Amino acid sequence: MNINLKALVAKYDTPLYLYDFDYIAGRYTELKEAFEGKKSLISYAVKSNSNLAIIRHLANLGAGADCVSIGEVKRALAAGVKPYRIIFSGVGKRDEEIREALESDILMLNLESEAEMKRVELMAKELGKEARISIRVNPNIDPQTHPYISTGLHENKFGVEIDMAKRMYIYAKKSEFLNPVGIHFHIGSQLTQLDPIREAAMIVADLVRSLRRIDIDIKFFDVGGGIGVVYSDERTITPEEYAGAVFEAIKGLDVTIVCEPGRYMVANGGIFVTKVLYEKENDGKRFVIIDGAMNDLIRPSLYNAYHRIDAYENTNEHKTAADVVGPICESGDFLGKNVYLPPLEHNDLLVVQSAGAYGFTMASNYNTRGRAAEVALVGGEDHCIRQRESFEDQIRLELACDTSWQEK
Ligand code: LLP
Repeated sequence: MNINLKALVAKYDTPLYLYDFDYIAGRYTELKEAFEGKKSLISYAVKSNSNLAIIRHLANLGAGADCVSIGEVKRALAAGVKPYRIIFSGVGKRDEEIREALESDILMLNLESEAEMKRVELMAKELGKEARISIRVNPNIDPQTHPYISTGLHENKFGVEIDMAKRMYIYAKKSEFLNPVGIHFHIGSQLTQLDPIREAAMIVADLVRSLRRIDIDIKFFDVGGGIGVVYSDERTITPEEYAGAVFEAIKGLDVTIVCEPGRYMVANGGIFVTKVLYEKENDGKRFVIIDGAMNDLIRPSLYNAYHRIDAYENTNEHKTAADVVGPICESGDFLGKNVYLPPLEHNDLLVVQSAGAYGFTMASNYNTRGRAAEVALVGGEDHCIRQRESFEDQIRLELACDTSWQEK
């Protein structure tokens, strides 16, 4: 991003999330074009960055939405995503969520257990509707990624085994209130190897073929999300390689390919900007204390994830290693360890790279810290897309309760 960060910080202050909307549009187009020649739907994984402006931006380009709560479904609808492009996934949907999703007439509910299917059938019956469903298959493939974001093994809580999936499809086909239109798998996130995806797609496509033989006609082949991105110097999967692997698996099948990328669309379209508060040394170890923290960007603390951190100015001065830490009262509150940085002064800016995915969405109010502002950059112009959270915003729901029982 070629931007005047100082001017933006003067306007919006820090900590600040900045998103390059042109980059995000480019990512969408690149992926969509890789699927050219086949019917495809790119359903953006809202969980990766659920700001309405981002969802709207992608919806305007034709994207759908992959949602894991009714809240996300409502966000997608509010942002203008067409209901027939919305998918509702997740292992634990509440009755009200199922009901509301059915009433909204979304493309399909992704089911992850037999018990859930029975619940959806009941809700659909009560509403006098037919629920379009897909079943998440767990192909028992090791995606070779971080264990916390690996989902395609039987030891993970996600999806159902092939045999169970088959039984569920047969049941759904007979039900008056279920319409099995799709099949789904998602083996993990930040996938940098193609083989696990190829293998999983083959297994699931074979299941589609065997379902077809018993007259169950799957229309949507949902390959999940998970395409890895570059945080450091990793080699990852290109859209063409990805699409190629899917094409190969579905050879001979007349299906619409659905994919649910989150990180791929937004991770490298976002930066997190923070100010230096102080420098200090403890027994020769250098710490740079900043005004951003683990409540803003938890990935380093939670997964030991790497985010490149750059000083905005003085980049030619002699750099030494430092831990970049926030003001939160935990040793795990760091955004980077052993980061080579020039000497820094109060109010110097640091840029945390690749922060567009699972940054703001995983932010919290820990230590009563207001969540950061979010700003979009579009064709060189900046637009606020979420105001900085104030102290009043944070305590509003506490003050909304009756407090008289504590008053003297
Ligand atoms: N579809 C399903 C069913 C998913 O569970 C996920 C992510 C996605 C799509 C999108 O995956 P993506 O394309 O973004 O890899 N908080 C973690 C990532 C958790 C991902 C959870 N599921 C992180 O910060 O790395």
